[in-house]
Amino acid sequence: MTVLFPREKKYMDKIVIKGGGRLEGEVEISGAKNAALPIMAAMILTTGKNKLDGVPQVRDVTTMLHLLNGLGGCTEEFNAGRIFFDATGINNFEAPYELVSTMRASCLVLGPLLARLGRAKVSLPGGCAIGARPLDLHIRGLEGMGAKIRLVQGYIYGEAKRLRGVRYYFDTVTVTGTANLIMAATLADGETVLENVAKEPEVVFLADVLNQSGAKIKGHGTDLVTIQGVQSLKPINCNIFPDRIETGTYMIASAITRGDVKITNCIPKQVESLTLKLRQSGLIVEEGETSLRVIYDGQLNGVNIKTQPHPGFATDLQAQFMALMTLAQGKSIVLETVFENRFMHVAELKRMGADITIQGRTAVVSGVKELSGAPLMATDLRASASLVLAALAAKGESVISRIYHIDRGYSDIEQKLYRLGAKIFRKK
Ligand code: UD1
Repeated sequence: MTVLFPREKKYMDKIVIKGGGRLEGEVEISGAKNAALPIMAAMILTTGKNKLDGVPQVRDVTTMLHLLNGLGGCTEEFNAGRIFFDATGINNFEAPYELVSTMRASCLVLGPLLARLGRAKVSLPGGCAIGARPLDLHIRGLEGMGAKIRLVQGYIYGEAKRLRGVRYYFDTVTVTGTANLIMAATLADGETVLENVAKEPEVVFLADVLNQSGAKIKGHGTDLVTIQGVQSLKPINCNIFPDRIETGTYMIASAITRGDVKITNCIPKQVESLTLKLRQSGLIVEEGETSLRVIYDGQLNGVNIKTQPHPGFATDLQAQFMALMTLAQGKSIVLETVFENRFMHVAELKRMGADITIQGRTAVVSGVKELSGAPLMATDLRASASLVLAALAAKGESVISRIYHIDRGYSDIEQKLYRLGAKIFRKK
């Protein structure tokens, strides 16, 4: 069978932006990366041909496909947002370091592998730029389901003849932890009750899609999810919904360039906490059924944000919102409660002239009149997006290197911004 992957963007590419212009026009949002990845991992639970539509053409998706092929599955097509994947041949239980180290979400295969093969060997992802991000809650939950888990030489080894239902409370709300345990529980023996679970739209979608394949999951979208184990699941056939973080990033792009941008193919309800903050700040935000329009109305005032699990303000939009606040009138306070070290963008924003001080998990941003373009270094996915936004508004030229981070999660970002009037190009 042929395996078709989109053109891989190059490791050393840079994005060059001549800032200062206003963005105007329409931009269409791609499928949600963080919805696609757990659904792709869930394909491990099935035998037969899975079909996913609306999948974004981003590097994390390609990484997950490589991982799934390495497990013995077969990607028959990945083109124009469609994946055909045959999970019949999955028989290998190892997720190697080379893949897991480039994408932490690879840990999503742990639960499904244990449920399907009774064995898993998954590399520990290690620290990352935004904090330690341990997997202890995933592991404890799987142990509760009867898995024997050992950590040896940087790998998680798991074994379980058949997982069994458990009542498990997550000490911290974890998105991939919830997804991992829901997936594991679908094929476990008996009932699993998960408490203090994540309520992110991506988790709710995963449960809905699994139910369409024959799983018995109830309560998703609330704090308590119940799963009755079943013997097998049918192949998945679904359409991935639009990316709320990409939506939010373009909303902020309009705001920071004093623009007027209509964002189409999005779900306004999923970004309500951002909409509220933009309105508080002085922007006009018009909501349609599947569109949003963000219009600069002569003012941009400092407002405070506190990141929280959904439906609170998304940590994945904190860096982008902070870039906006650097140009707001007055002070704003950004409190990051989800990750302990998610201010990597601050040093780069300061090099552009931003006035920010950090104390622990709090950043105090004092708005400045203008930012100036600079050579910049992307450090993680969302931090890179914040640098792109700041560069769009800054005076002069910025050259952003290490943009492979941005290619992990944003589909065609430079073309989309170019069509909105940005002076942006990719330097190979
Ligand atoms: C997911 C998202 C990521 C987002 C994050 C928070 C995907 C693929 N990634 O990441 O974009 O920023 O949710 O919305 O969906 N924690 C533990 N022990 C664990 C697991 C997590 O202490 O076993 C902690 C983490 O260190 C962090 C917090 O829980 O402080 C939340 O992290 P979590 O929700 O697990 O993030 P991810 O699922 O990795």
